[in-house]
Amino acid sequence: MGQRKPIVAGNWKMNGSLELIKEIAAVSAQIEEQQCEVLVFPPAVLLSEAISAGLKCGTQTVSEFDAGAYTGEIQASLVKSLGANYTLVGHSERRSIYGESNEDVANKFAQAQQSGLTPILCIGETQEQRTDGKTEEVVKQQLESVIEKLGIASLVNSVIAYEPVWAIGTGLTATPEQAQATHKYIRDLLRSYDEQVADALRILYGGSVNESNSELLFAQADIDGGLIGGASLKPESFSAICESA
Ligand code: G3P
Repeated sequence: MGQRKPIVAGNWKMNGSLELIKEIAAVSAQIEEQQCEVLVFPPAVLLSEAISAGLKCGTQTVSEFDAGAYTGEIQASLVKSLGANYTLVGHSERRSIYGESNEDVANKFAQAQQSGLTPILCIGETQEQRTDGKTEEVVKQQLESVIEKLGIASLVNSVIAYEPVWAIGTGLTATPEQAQATHKYIRDLLRSYDEQVADALRILYGGSVNESNSELLFAQADIDGGLIGGASLKPESFSAICESA
């Protein structure tokens, strides 16, 4: 993990409650800030409550638009004004269920940064793409759609989350070696643009991370923490994952 401070981020997806906020706030308060940055991505309707409970938070997506007649969308500048500093962009569920393209994701990334939020750019291949040997090609396209639109410098204030789609919610975690291989590929690709950006950027792993596999995953040289789904809804598991970072 080197000099980069790890992040453990819980993506609650469309789950959670006021009770869970209290429980996870208690977990987060136990973790040394120097040791690890703990972030929570609750449903947007719970954001204020989570912030009031002392959690460092973000949203699970934001609109690519600044403001206006976009019913149901989440405005990045309002998220920032509530006291949140992060948003996920391009989560695979947003891509596959809501049809977000690489271009949409790049636009959301830009809007997040313009509004003062740090985007966590989610990338990763499907099972079919992996079987076809296209993992590197897919993550390259997903990353380069942001770099081509906004430049390599835009990644300075961002985080990458590599989440192989086949590992999300399936219990099929990538092995530490498989995950490390793709993380290294991502960092080497970034290095071909800018060495300093590549060395400083935090790349999180996501996909069935739990308290039994997090330590080995986080011990890999290019894995700087995790984006946790199901296990982030269980205070004891989330606590153990944070401790392992
Ligand atoms: O964003 C986190 C995620 O998609 C992974 O979910 O449940 O496999 O940890 P899970």
